[in-house]
Amino acid sequence: MRKKLVAGNWKMNTTRAEATALAAAVAKGVGTDDRVGVAVCPPFPWLTAVGDALTGSAVALGAQDVHYEKKGAFTGEVSPAMLAECGCTYAIIGHSERRHILGEADSAINHKVHTALEEGLHAILCMGETLAERERGLQERVFQRQVYAACAGLTDEQFGRLVIAYEPVWAIGTGKVATPEQAQEAHAFVRGKLRALYGDKIADATPILYGGSVTGENARDLLKQPDVDGALVGGASLKPDSFLAIVAAARG
Ligand code: 13P
Repeated sequence: MRKKLVAGNWKMNTTRAEATALAAAVAKGVGTDDRVGVAVCPPFPWLTAVGDALTGSAVALGAQDVHYEKKGAFTGEVSPAMLAECGCTYAIIGHSERRHILGEADSAINHKVHTALEEGLHAILCMGETLAERERGLQERVFQRQVYAACAGLTDEQFGRLVIAYEPVWAIGTGKVATPEQAQEAHAFVRGKLRALYGDKIADATPILYGGSVTGENARDLLKQPDVDGALVGGASLKPDSFLAIVAAARG
């Protein structure tokens, strides 16, 4: 059975003091209970301070992005090894805000996934359709293209550290959560693609999280779906109570 994962993507929010207080509250709420994986992904400058606040708890640390080269002349970028040294075990890759606001392409995302996995991180690969794509019935074509492009060339061992997050762009930060049926349908399609491309073992083992307006209230029904293996949480991860309510929902 796939273990559930609830990850908080804090995006470009929090002061240093807010970040450490939030991390400490999440660490206290989760303690050493690891029935469900829990991770928080603060902004880069707070990684080490948040990592310190998580010490002794089962909460993992993640970054919101990573560069696709291991080192060198890439002004402003952060390498996977630097993230690992800051205590990160996860890196979010290909978030829709990076794809659509910052123009990140499928090829760069594939490169990032490779480098992050080669350096030992777990990659949380984000994918999902825009509203215009859904309205035109194109979502499955988009899923196919994004999964195929991002996962090209991965080894079986690397797949063991890949997490996929289905985040419909129309649901992110809008309060318009996908229905449990819409989420299940998308996740089942993505898992079917993994099965067709990479076989049963990888399809059955890869966690697929749902993201987009997840709250403590709607999490339970989403997480009950057979192919929904957890949540990638934006807004609701900025308050300990709402984030911990989602963790509690994932525990069932
Ligand atoms: P919201 O939960 O704020 O909709 O954000 C989802 C998201 O983008 C997580 O990566």
